[in-house]
Amino acid sequence: MRKDAGALWLDIVEDVRWYPSPHNSQPIKLMPISETEARIYYDLDLGLPAESFGIPFGHVCAGVFLESLSVVASARGYRSMETLDHSDMDFAAPDRLHLIGTVRLEPTVLDEETESTAQRRLAAFQSRQTSRRPYDSRIVDQNVLAEASAIAAAQGFDFRSTSDARLVSTLVQINQKTLFSDLRNDAVYTEIMHWLRFSRKEAVAKSDGLSAETMIMPGPVLRFAMGHRALWSFPVLGDVIRAVYLRTMRGVRQLGWLEGPFAEPAHYLEAGRTFMQVWLFFSERGVYLHPFGTVITNPDSHAAFVREAGIHESDTRMAWMLFRFGFSATPPVAHRRPATATLLSPLPETTSPREPLLE
Ligand SMILES: Cc1cc2nc3c(=O)[nH]c(=O)nc-3n(C[C@H](O)[C@H](O)[C@H](O)COP(=O)(O)O)c2cc1C
Repeated sequence: MRKDAGALWLDIVEDVRWYPSPHNSQPIKLMPISETEARIYYDLDLGLPAESFGIPFGHVCAGVFLESLSVVASARGYRSMETLDHSDMDFAAPDRLHLIGTVRLEPTVLDEETESTAQRRLAAFQSRQTSRRPYDSRIVDQNVLAEASAIAAAQGFDFRSTSDARLVSTLVQINQKTLFSDLRNDAVYTEIMHWLRFSRKEAVAKSDGLSAETMIMPGPVLRFAMGHRALWSFPVLGDVIRAVYLRTMRGVRQLGWLEGPFAEPAHYLEAGRTFMQVWLFFSERGVYLHPFGTVITNPDSHAAFVREAGIHESDTRMAWMLFRFGFSATPPVAHRRPATATLLSPLPETTSPREPLLE
């Protein structure tokens, strides 16, 4: 039996709200316009404008969301048919909801095989998490890497990886230096501080952002270190903070990255969709990953990464995502806002579109 409009979308959003987003800002909003159609928006007030790639990564996040929606809908017997807008995002726009497109849910009849694939993919989606824990030094099997490459290639992207110990160590250090360099940039620093959650209580209450727990740092230590960024460049204290951070990178033997078209909104969105497909595939195989997105968004770090990894970029092709991957203990949960915070009501223009659909 088909559920009524609000109930079906609420049911879908209950799952899909666990999609990953940079800084866990959860910027995507869904406005049902019928039982099976919804408009998808990016809430510009939840974007990350301080970073040089803030806009491309906004579209990447929308692609991550759309892939998540297709997985969640498919396990409920629907195919998600998208009509996408692909207009440029503008963080200064007066209308704070940027339209990504419209999604229509088309009922599908699943045979035994497609049903089991859909349920397997949903289980992978539900178990997917970012792991910033130390990894256990095991190498991910070559067959898994070959399959990840095939998934990316089917979308027009290249998945590449390295287990070269020297290159892995160099890129991990570039990632660590990115954190130090980002903190010297006032706008990026202010943005990070806005999304950091220093105590468990605050992380649960706000149900978004980057908690100290998920960053594998004691809250008071993170609060002190972030509150005194000038100390990071002091010889001894800077070394201690660096060592604490690099301890979380123990056991990292492999890094992966995605290369491909990355010059306009349609590219960014497909890039995000591809990243999520690879992430879900890893999750299905019990492999965790930790995106090093800031190595891409920080121009100096990006240049160093491309140089060290011997990557050739052009005006339209870029290495746009770097991540560590491997095996670890289950990471702490990054909280999500309730489903009602993602749903918007399709009310007349005189009413705020932010009013939740269901309380
Ligand atoms: C496009 C993208 C870029 C990201 N970049 C980073 C990053 O640079 N550093 C980091 O620690 N986590 C990064 N993340 C991971 C998010 O912070 C994480 O997905 C979010 O906090 C939710 O946690 P979860 O993945 O465990 O559900 C990124 C995620 C996405 C989707």
